[in-house]
Amino acid sequence: MSFQEKSVKVGRNDPCPCGSGLKHKKCCLGKGDFSKGNVKEAYYQKYQIRLKGEEDIKGIKRTGRLVLATLDLVEEKIRPGMVTDEINTLVHDFTVKNGAIPAPLNYHGFPKSVCVSVNEVICHGIPGDRILNEGDIVNVDVTSILDGLYADASKTFFVGTPGEDVRKIVEVTRECLRAGMEQVEKGKTVGDIGWAIQGLAEGEGCSVVREFVGHGVGFEFHEPPQVPHYGQRGEGIVLVPGMVFTIEPMINLGKASLHILDDGWTAVTADGSLSAQFEQTILVRENGFESLTPFD
Ligand code: MF3
Ligand code: CO
Ligand code: CO
Repeated sequence: MSFQEKSVKVGRNDPCPCGSGLKHKKCCLGKGDFSKGNVKEAYYQKYQIRLKGEEDIKGIKRTGRLVLATLDLVEEKIRPGMVTDEINTLVHDFTVKNGAIPAPLNYHGFPKSVCVSVNEVICHGIPGDRILNEGDIVNVDVTSILDGLYADASKTFFVGTPGEDVRKIVEVTRECLRAGMEQVEKGKTVGDIGWAIQGLAEGEGCSVVREFVGHGVGFEFHEPPQVPHYGQRGEGIVLVPGMVFTIEPMINLGKASLHILDDGWTAVTADGSLSAQFEQTILVRENGFESLTPFD
């Protein structure tokens, strides 16, 4: 919980928080919603977005450090011949040992403590008896809850030595996350993030998954706003300091369309092509952004 309820002021010439793309004075200023200039209140009223204060951020960062340590542990242990359920055990035990809760476990009925998505699996892979083979890629998506606060991050790892295709999709996807993050500053919009990612991915002949998006995070697993990895410049909600959300592009080497398997969770590329993903939890700062789960 935040003890710092400091409000953020919107200037007359700043972009209007309603997302219209107009200056505040030409839009909602004096028209009710944002007339008091209290963005925290307005963002909750209008979008149900809960902006975070410095105490909240400290806590989410602590969770973020645990999430990154978990990913490091997994990376160190990954080897050909391993089954994906071993990754689940590693993540579950490490999370609990550190006084945290694995957020995926029982989340809307998800049966395991981490998502593990191999090759053509886009996301929400359920750990089980699938064997990791030399040349595979595997995304490990870790979300932990420490002292009630959530942080969410994922990386795609090589299993053994990567081939050419595998190297390409992983590199492009990592760059897509970077390009999205670079857009994050107050006054820009959610659409700017998606636009940057989509341009990069499609410019490399890859495609952007539409069905799953980034999301607000911190007090809950999935909060508003949604953060699509495609879109138009200047479109959608305006970024303001204190917003915390994930950027988590899922990029396919082939076409964008997907299927959900009969388990009700596993999303796979319809054409069987490789799919990769990287994810970080990002905070909009007064100047630029800060990652609460920072990695390169
Ligand atoms: N960690 C995923 C995300 O980035 C969500 C997984 S939901 C689960 O949003 F239920 F599959 F765990
Ligand atoms: Co995640
Ligand atoms: Co996420």
